[in-house]
Amino acid sequence: MVKKKACVFISGAGTNLKAIINSSRSYNFPINVSLVISNNKNAKGLILAKKFAIPFKVFNSKEYFFEKKILKEIKDKKISLICLAGYMKILSKNFIKNFKGKIVNIHPSLLPKYKGIDTFKRMLKNKEINAGSTVHYVNEKLDSGKVILKKSISIEKTDNEITLKKKVQSIEYLIFSEAIRKIYLKN
Ligand code: GAR
Repeated sequence: MVKKKACVFISGAGTNLKAIINSSRSYNFPINVSLVISNNKNAKGLILAKKFAIPFKVFNSKEYFFEKKILKEIKDKKISLICLAGYMKILSKNFIKNFKGKIVNIHPSLLPKYKGIDTFKRMLKNKEINAGSTVHYVNEKLDSGKVILKKSISIEKTDNEITLKKKVQSIEYLIFSEAIRKIYLKN
């Protein structure tokens, strides 16, 4: 199978990046991670990129033209899918327009509930009984694009932000890859 080239955007630990890289090692997974982009030079996920010999670039998001530079990189490398895996920077409308329908994000809540940050803290405060994660297409509105896949887990009375994050992330590692498979099944 001819795999498509994907670029994964990260800002931090990169544990979702790791899960995607692992999936991509299977011959029938539809994409290869051909590029990793980070807005944070200290992102731990960059160590993974190095380990797997995946080209990576760090862009300073304070620079005026940083998105233009990213777009050039992505077009030069013929990337056909962008996976936002813990990328904590909001992409501009212009960037999204340029890559319409080809950017997907993973968010640690059951969207449309708990868009934005501090999801676990807010869920616990509201005494929710379910948490989860959603993979969705990115549009101009924050955490609002069409849902590709979501999965829920139950919140126990004993859960705190740390245990909840751990549980949610353990399902993220499955659903991100499953969502990528789903995208290409349709095409
Ligand atoms: C993930 O849990 C992801 O859902 C979340 O950041 C974490 C990144 O972890 N994304 C967002 O909150 C986006 N709004 P990772 O760097 O270990 O993959």
